[in-house]
Amino acid sequence: MTLICKHCQAELPDGMRYCGYCGARLSDPPLYLDTHQRSQIRHVTVLFADLEGYTVAANRLDSEALYELVQQYTDLLSREVYKYEGIIDKMTGDGIMALFGAPVSYENNTERAIRAALDMQANFLMWRQHVQQNLNLDLNLRIGLHCGPVIVGEIGSNIVMDYTAIGETVNLAYRLQEIADPGSIFTSAEVVHQTRAIFDYEQLPDATLKGFDHPVPCYRLIGIKPLTGSTRTGEGLHAPLIGRQLELNHLLQAAHQIQSSAQGKFILICGEVGIGKSRLLQEFKNRLTEENIPYLEGYSLTYRRSVPYWIFTDLLRHQLGISAKSTIAEIRRQLSQTLQSCAADQATSLVPYLEHLFSLPTSDPNYLLLIQNLEADQFRQQVLTAIRSILYPCHADQPRIWILEDLQWADEVSLSILQTVIADLEQTPLLIVAAARSENFPPLQKFFQSLPSTPSEMVERIELHSLTDEESHTLLAKLVDIQQFPAKLTQNILEHAAGIPLYLEEILRMLMDAGALVHSPSGLRPHRSIDGESLGVPITLQGLIQARFDQLTAFQRTVLQYASIIGHHFSRGLLEAILPVHEEDLQKTLQELIEREFIVATPDHPQGEFAFRHLLISEAVYNTLLKKERSRLHTLVGTAIESHYSGRLNEVIELLARHFSWGNQPEKALHYLILAAQKAMTGSLYEQAQKHYEHALTLLPGVESAHQQALQVHLGLGDLYQIRGEVKAARAQYLAALDRLSQMASPEVQEIRNNLLRKLRELTASDPALQERV
Ligand SMILES: Nc1ncnc2c1ncn2[C@@H]1O[C@H](COP(=O)(O)OP(=O)(O)O)[C@@H](O)[C@H]1O
Ligand SMILES: [Mg+2]
Repeated sequence: MTLICKHCQAELPDGMRYCGYCGARLSDPPLYLDTHQRSQIRHVTVLFADLEGYTVAANRLDSEALYELVQQYTDLLSREVYKYEGIIDKMTGDGIMALFGAPVSYENNTERAIRAALDMQANFLMWRQHVQQNLNLDLNLRIGLHCGPVIVGEIGSNIVMDYTAIGETVNLAYRLQEIADPGSIFTSAEVVHQTRAIFDYEQLPDATLKGFDHPVPCYRLIGIKPLTGSTRTGEGLHAPLIGRQLELNHLLQAAHQIQSSAQGKFILICGEVGIGKSRLLQEFKNRLTEENIPYLEGYSLTYRRSVPYWIFTDLLRHQLGISAKSTIAEIRRQLSQTLQSCAADQATSLVPYLEHLFSLPTSDPNYLLLIQNLEADQFRQQVLTAIRSILYPCHADQPRIWILEDLQWADEVSLSILQTVIADLEQTPLLIVAAARSENFPPLQKFFQSLPSTPSEMVERIELHSLTDEESHTLLAKLVDIQQFPAKLTQNILEHAAGIPLYLEEILRMLMDAGALVHSPSGLRPHRSIDGESLGVPITLQGLIQARFDQLTAFQRTVLQYASIIGHHFSRGLLEAILPVHEEDLQKTLQELIEREFIVATPDHPQGEFAFRHLLISEAVYNTLLKKERSRLHTLVGTAIESHYSGRLNEVIELLARHFSWGNQPEKALHYLILAAQKAMTGSLYEQAQKHYEHALTLLPGVESAHQQALQVHLGLGDLYQIRGEVKAARAQYLAALDRLSQMASPEVQEIRNNLLRKLRELTASDPALQERV
């Protein structure tokens, strides 16, 4: 089925929610746009492609020929955008702007954008020859890519709504495209940071670009690294395996057993993103190789989700020894050899299906007809026969182990075949080890449900949990020179990483990219003073979390966003106060969010009975809100807390100070900051008190005639410095207080003034150097 865009009449593949040509919305109302919040900040990758030689073409061709040329060209580009799940934001005759990561994010947005760019250039090259021969025109394609935060949303009147992205990120991508050499792909440093594990780049001299104050680093994409597998390690960070010995031994034991068994086994390794599933499989494969135990591999990749039979095509390729570089003739030879040795009786009957599966040109025109006339189910049956004859162990040296990566991305047909294969395991000595995320992926869930629920002998599930605190610390110590790290920074990194190795690596990578960590002979160490307090969310993780967030319903997303405003911990009561919904609806949604592993219940926690699963999740969700929306909600939360806790405000002063200052309510913020500082002073928490007072100082200029508050801040800071023995600083604050007093006219002024003068005299007495200036 195809869809027709109501706005520009373009034909589109089924399942799209936005028109790839004009950006118009296709279905109403879309699931992912919240009714009250149509704009969002998102991390996206922006791709600009531009046709060089268009003006010459426009001058030379008549309008019909030009139309056809543009049609072919835009088809060529948009095909690649769709293939890698991007959308086309704008299209001019000779250029396009595409977004990866909006309106819906599918994770690894940058990788997909680059693959699209590479395929565009490859296809363009062929088309270019054709145009050269037929129209005698010399055309070239320039592509520029950049990733970063953009404001996206629907822009325009109610009648014509365009989904679009705006901001500096878009501008840089455009400028990079402008300076790109014909036929090349230029990218920003941010793109390189995120994808250097997968692609090779050449660094170019910094470029002076319109709209940018400083020269901008830029890179030329060279190509895909010769790398198989889906481990995502970038350079510079590689630790030995920490923990996971039990799991690894278990897999090895199963691998040994299967060699002499008559029955098979399916082991599913589950766990959240970055917990170490692929790493465990990698270690397992290393051990198998050491022991000369053969195995086959099948990968599922996000951008191959729409390719049916992918896992099994992969396994078959592996078994036949076909690589990306194999020629068609080689593939045919290997295919016929394998069929001869494995399934002589079916050798010829399977050829048409295998040719189709490997996308080979048909060797017999009748095959095409045969396949076209087949019902989907009959084709599936034939593939199953091929799998059984070629992949099931029928002689001694045939691999008995299959390793399936990222099963959550598997296409539905592969999953349904896998289900049948698992049912065969009773009589088939195969060990299938698969890794999958434990999150909610509808096709995978259906698959899980089809597996026996109690762990039988043949189906096992290994759940990978976060590393323990000790393991996390060991991992960090393997990656950096931990001696050089301030304790607070170490603690903050570990807290953010929450036992997930990927998070830990990405946080370090982010700090490296920012120049905050540098290599030294003894390992990574901090370069300059890092603000250990606010690490931020690595872009790669923001993308990962965003992709999961996009799968939620609008209401679930709103609840999460509101909760992220309240903080890492939150209570239902407060949520109810700021989100006017039915109690049961909220209760139900919170339960769903627990099931979807965004939040956890923390019934005994003083700050609320719920918390986000990880700090990074709450921060990433918070980052999706526009600044304006954030301040509005912080004020709402502040006001709700005030009424919720009236009578016992002392408990929540710090919270109120935070919400009102982030809510851009300087008067209220000032009020609570001073109270919070005074409270900290009473408890001798001087560092905290200083932070609050200093924060208050920065707010003073924004509040009119805040003499009283200013006085309190200066007096407070004066006392604080005095206690700490910082005489000079104390004196400066007291003098500032005196200055404020002179502008006030309340009855107590005189008394405060006397008090102050006494303090100043005492200070001076204790430090003779100051005496002459009083
Ligand atoms: N137990 C571990 N010890 C050391 N490094 C680990 C461990 N588990 C994972 N890593 C590293 O963390 C990163 C993410 O792990 P990965 O296996 O890709 O996660 P997953 O496949 O579960 O998403 C990889 O760089 C990996 O090498
Ligand atoms: Mg993985």
